[in-house]
Amino acid sequence: MASRATSRPVGTVTRGTTNPNRLRRMDRWIAATHGAELRRADAPVAVDLGYGAAPWTAVELLARLRTAAPRAQVVGVEIEPERVAAARPYEREGLTFRHGGFEIPVPGRPTLIRAANVLRQYDEEQVAAVWRRLCARLAPADGVSRGGLLVEGTCDEIGRRHVWVALGPEGPRTVTFATRLGSLERPSDLAERLPKALIHRNVPGEPVHAFLRDFDRAWAGAAPFASYGARQRWLRTVRDLAADWPVTDGPARWRQGEVTVDWAALAPRGH
Ligand SMILES: C[S@@+](CC[C@H](N)C(=O)[O-])C[C@H]1O[C@@H](n2cnc3c(N)ncnc32)[C@H](O)[C@@H]1O
Repeated sequence: MASRATSRPVGTVTRGTTNPNRLRRMDRWIAATHGAELRRADAPVAVDLGYGAAPWTAVELLARLRTAAPRAQVVGVEIEPERVAAARPYEREGLTFRHGGFEIPVPGRPTLIRAANVLRQYDEEQVAAVWRRLCARLAPADGVSRGGLLVEGTCDEIGRRHVWVALGPEGPRTVTFATRLGSLERPSDLAERLPKALIHRNVPGEPVHAFLRDFDRAWAGAAPFASYGARQRWLRTVRDLAADWPVTDGPARWRQGEVTVDWAALAPRGH
């Protein structure tokens, strides 16, 4: 971790590609699943780590979190100094921007760290250490709270396909697949958006490969439901999938074109 004396941010500058509304699916999932923790915290700080060449995702994260937790504050953290300067005019009540990296240069322990489309540009071997570093910065669990959440994942340019891992202070918890159902040919279309920890593991013998294979099979089996619309087909598919895989959410989330699975079931072999 960078010391205050050197204050050199931890990490590497990468491409700054971003888009307005790109992370809406992730934002809504966070508000729905982590809203209670954000409401409970005395000073709920959410970090948008690596927000990119423009600050849109941080601005939107604040608006969406506040629907669930009106006291939430967002700090955009970016390792590329010019991107921080470009974002500063967008600061407002509840939203600030800081130069920094994986050390997370905010006081205290955040209730949320969101890193979208950041680790995909790093090497697979770096992911575990970055996860550990970021998890160690999260608000700790106590008798009432499960602690802060790290949401780390990847999506396409306009946010139609998204896969993210959610981690607590103790480590990885779940993997969420989220998609615009109208544009989906088959669930394995999401494979190209797997986060760095899983994308190179979509090969025979690895759990995530078996999962996507079973997901496609369930989707094919649910083809008769397509006449009622893609949503009905997805609902049926996930219901069938849940017979064999530890799906942790329910129909209210499935209706959004999501499904969340226990990390342990998809973790690469040897983890
Ligand atoms: C592809 S952009 C993603 C922008 C936005 N999060 C999105 O999903 O649209 C990745 C950004 O992460 C930044 N980045 C990479 N490593 C970082 C680190 N260790 N700490 C902070 N920012 C980082 C890059 O400089 C780049 O601007």
